[in-house]
Amino acid sequence: MSNEELCALAKMAMENAYAPYSGYRVGAALLTKSEKVYTGCNIENASYSPTVCAERTAIFKAVSDGERDFLKIAVAGGKDGKITGEFPPCGVCRQVMAEFCDENFKILVVNGNNAYTEYCFSEILPFSFNPKHIK
Ligand code: THU
Repeated sequence: MSNEELCALAKMAMENAYAPYSGYRVGAALLTKSEKVYTGCNIENASYSPTVCAERTAIFKAVSDGERDFLKIAVAGGKDGKITGEFPPCGVCRQVMAEFCDENFKILVVNGNNAYTEYCFSEILPFSFNPKHIK
């Protein structure tokens, strides 16, 4: 699975976003080390705080399916489904990544130029609190 293919799946996952409050449609596509892909979208809620991001939807789908070893995630998002720039993972999603992903995990953030920027997990969440600290 190429980075471009993973980004295309993230963009497709934006279509299922449930975002009646913000209008921001977000999609994610997570590649496991076993070469499976789990997609996710953001799912909002009238009470706002139960909203879940696309990245966590994808990660939780994978974990609930027995997968815990991940290589990379692609993320795409924008107002009304239009990608005008990078839509990077929020802090809560980064913390969820810290639970399952090592420092070499890659985050492909789709941008408005029909391309993506690749980030390393250690770059987007340095000095993370993770399972190593409570073992
Ligand atoms: N959102 C994501 O899906 N991923 C992120 O990492 C950032 C934010 C969603 C949550 C909410 O539905 C909308 O984007 C606006 O914040």
